[in-house]
Amino acid sequence: MRHLLEIDDLTVDELHRVLDLATDLSPPRVLEGQGMALVFEKPSARTRNSMEMAVFQLGGHPMYIQAAEIGMDVRESVEDVTRTLASYHGCIGARVFAHATVERMAGEGLVPIVNMLSDEAHPLQALADVLTLQQEFGDLAGRTVAYVGDGNNMFRSLALAAGMLGAEVRFTGPPGYRLPEADRDRLAAAGVVVAEFDRATDAVAGIDVVYTDVWTSMGQEDEAAQRHRDFEGFRVDEALMEAAGPKAVFLHCLPAHRGEEVTDGVVDGPASRVWPQAANRMHAARGLLAWLLGEAVDGGSGA
Ligand code: CP
Ligand code: NVA
Repeated sequence: MRHLLEIDDLTVDELHRVLDLATDLSPPRVLEGQGMALVFEKPSARTRNSMEMAVFQLGGHPMYIQAAEIGMDVRESVEDVTRTLASYHGCIGARVFAHATVERMAGEGLVPIVNMLSDEAHPLQALADVLTLQQEFGDLAGRTVAYVGDGNNMFRSLALAAGMLGAEVRFTGPPGYRLPEADRDRLAAAGVVVAEFDRATDAVAGIDVVYTDVWTSMGQEDEAAQRHRDFEGFRVDEALMEAAGPKAVFLHCLPAHRGEEVTDGVVDGPASRVWPQAANRMHAARGLLAWLLGEAVDGGSGA
């Protein structure tokens, strides 16, 4: 039984295989006649829609469930919810606050669990990100990715995915918002070393990819004013893209808080790849599910 709670649940070979399957427009219908429960504790535009369509394309039936409706750890325990959903569905996806929630679901060992974003990780987005970069550059080995802003769920998953594919990963953000030691150890265990920069202009100089995410993630709304002050100087604007150089492309997982972490001119500008990146969410999700419910179950190498 395999799960995707974070990118390093995959080996480098498996990551490549998932990305290969993402570009297969006629993948095996691994969900034929089955359901996939999609449980959301937080809002979503891209994740819900891309997952629903990916499940449909694999022959399955997606079922959107607002967590408040089933009351995880309120009406009944996460474990009892998981046992119930697993008796109807071949796979469960969950978007949660506490990462421990998806770990508890996986701990039941009943059906594959897919993390559709937790406070710690957003692996489905990172799959779409590296798929987008492969389409842009081909092999990512030796490419450079600079992440500007909050060392959050998005950064962890992106750093793992890009780093495991051989890219050089840089981070720049204010003190207090950088990855803790334990996270850097986990990245290192996956062979990923992140270079940290104090100044955004230094981090992006000569880079291939500039990536940012919101300064205030879902669930952190009470900290928004403080974060806005702390992240001043780490906005991706036209001047920062100029410092990056003419070959740099811009990515953002979206939703963008335009005028905060990024300007309209960058999101809508010539370097932006955010719309192909968003579109790739569906292809990446389909590739992941085709692998997770097909080859990962069969024990096949995918060769
Ligand atoms: N990028 C992303 O996960 O978007 P949603 O929150 O809209 O799903
Ligand atoms: N870091 C953001 C990502 C949204 C897709 C959040 O967790 O809200």
